[in-house]
Amino acid sequence: MQDHFTGQLTRIQGRSLPGDQDRRDLQHDHERRLAALHRLGAAAAECGVRADSDRDLILVAEDEVSLLEGAGGSWATFGAAIRELRALLPLRPLEDFGFPAAPLAVGGSGDLAEIEATNPLEESNARLRRIGGGVEAWAFAAEADNSVYKFYLPREEGRIGSEFVFRPGDETTLRAEAGLGSYRGLLEKLLLVHALGGMATEVIAVTPEGILVAKQALGEPLAQGDDVSRVLPVGLIEIPSRFLRANRDHPRLFFLEASEGGVPRAFLVADMHARNFVRCVDGGLRVIDLVAAPWPAAITAREPLIADWLGRVGSDPDATALPGASDDEL
Ligand SMILES: Nc1ncnc2c1ncn2[C@@H]1O[C@H](COP(=O)(O)OP(=O)(O)O)[C@@H](O)[C@H]1O
Ligand SMILES: [Mg+2]
Repeated sequence: MQDHFTGQLTRIQGRSLPGDQDRRDLQHDHERRLAALHRLGAAAAECGVRADSDRDLILVAEDEVSLLEGAGGSWATFGAAIRELRALLPLRPLEDFGFPAAPLAVGGSGDLAEIEATNPLEESNARLRRIGGGVEAWAFAAEADNSVYKFYLPREEGRIGSEFVFRPGDETTLRAEAGLGSYRGLLEKLLLVHALGGMATEVIAVTPEGILVAKQALGEPLAQGDDVSRVLPVGLIEIPSRFLRANRDHPRLFFLEASEGGVPRAFLVADMHARNFVRCVDGGLRVIDLVAAPWPAAITAREPLIADWLGRVGSDPDATALPGASDDEL
């Protein structure tokens, strides 16, 4: 299938849910994109190019270092890494998605009020009708086929999306607080939505202003406040509240397995409230959005009780905070 806006190959169209092989391919694409961003960061550092935020890496042009590449060595590696990322995350102007070519005030120092005052995403256009959002993403459905396009708006200082940071808690060991995130964090969140059996999600482009564009199948929203605690994705592990509390709903531990195997990576995922679920054509409820962060392993390794629990939940998701005791008794 071809995407209506980009002409690129797409595995998502309208309300239909991609089959198993397409889902695996989508997950693999997410992983390759994250790996390419990681390699690009390493290659840039090797050349002494410092990126204050990963926004600079995400937006680097294909021919940015072409003059230096002839020198070979780390510059040639840098050039190759740029092209590798660009192939997995093309740069496309917002006009390709039917929006006016109005300048969007997003610079290194662009503050939130300024960005929002000039935000062209507030209005539907002839090809995309607004269906929601306005926190991290502005969500639209395509008039042509109802596929959902989400535009993640960059924020001040090269930040985008939401991610957890961890602080010592008062009554608990750790407190997770959602704040502005990075591009890596956003790409990881979209992978997590997909990997934990949520709505099929594809990353399709980034605009020169740094707006990240993702695509999803269309579902029916749930009413705000619906209780979704019983329909959370399988594979999520409840975290004893004496270890961690978060300022978002339903914080859970999730072990992300890579397509190519290896040791699963632990994440904190949360914010799975009713508005972050939709009902799909097959009647199933799927997550469309969440807030996450890599599990703070360096901190929890110093906390013997948490480290012990982590070691046990990997193989037994129902393991309690203390071996042999129910969490209700503690
Ligand atoms: N795939 C989808 N199908 C139907 N509605 C959607 C879909 N994705 C987003 N929406 C609507 O847009 C809203 C915002 O999208 P979301 O991804 O949750 O972004 P945000 O980070 O801004 O909360 C959702 O709460 C929902 O109402
Ligand atoms: Mg949301």
